[in-house]
Amino acid sequence: MIFLSGLVCFLLILTAEARVGECPQSEFCSETKECLLYDVVCKTNNYEVRHYESATWVYTDESSLFREFALLKAFKRLYGYITGDNMYGKEIDMTTPVVVIKEMKKWWEFWKCDYTMAFLLPTEYQENPPKPYDDKVHIVTVPNATMYVKTFGGWMVQGADDKHAEELCKALYSVNAKFNNEVYISAVYNSPMVFRNRHNEVLLQAYGEPVCADGEGDSSSSSKEDHSWSWTAGS
Ligand SMILES: *[C@@H]1O[C@H](CO)[C@@H](O)[C@H](O)[C@H]1NC(C)=O
Repeated sequence: MIFLSGLVCFLLILTAEARVGECPQSEFCSETKECLLYDVVCKTNNYEVRHYESATWVYTDESSLFREFALLKAFKRLYGYITGDNMYGKEIDMTTPVVVIKEMKKWWEFWKCDYTMAFLLPTEYQENPPKPYDDKVHIVTVPNATMYVKTFGGWMVQGADDKHAEELCKALYSVNAKFNNEVYISAVYNSPMVFRNRHNEVLLQAYGEPVCADGEGDSSSSSKEDHSWSWTAGS
């Protein structure tokens, strides 16, 4: 199904050597011991290009017109798996980020309400993940992939990720980048209880050689930069 293919796109990530690990590399990956690692290929004014190695994830699908409802059900199911509802009866550490894979949709396509949520398995279980008991919970190894990434703060509420995904798409179209424009991934790095410096991302899978160009609006966005960041002045 499409969402699985979305997930597969995502991490068209790790293979031989799964790159999950402790996370010295990023200040925004601070709530769990292990995180998904990546290499930065380049950065532009609008996005970052990253390479992810293959990795093994546990995922589940859920649908609802109400995003939070679907995601809560999905989260509970995956949480069950990591807290012992698995063939080894093992407790498995939570990792970062938690990802949600969604079809790209226009605002009028409100009936599209399928979500895939996935937790990255920690290093210890990358090779031999315990089988889930719940038949709605599945394990998948996603191949390596190059991703276009846009970062934003705040809470990932209904519509926030759609909006950022659309902006990322626009930026990519303006530089003629080739990418999967059918599904996008939202990555959440903070628990809901964290109020400061929240870090979220939307990711789109690059096809072929990634484009690292600032594109249209480059000059205007750089001239605007001081202005848009002025709220941080003095911090
Ligand atoms: C994935 O890994 C293979 C084998 O190392 C490599 O040939 C391919 O270019 C990689 N794909 C991406 C998207 O990086």
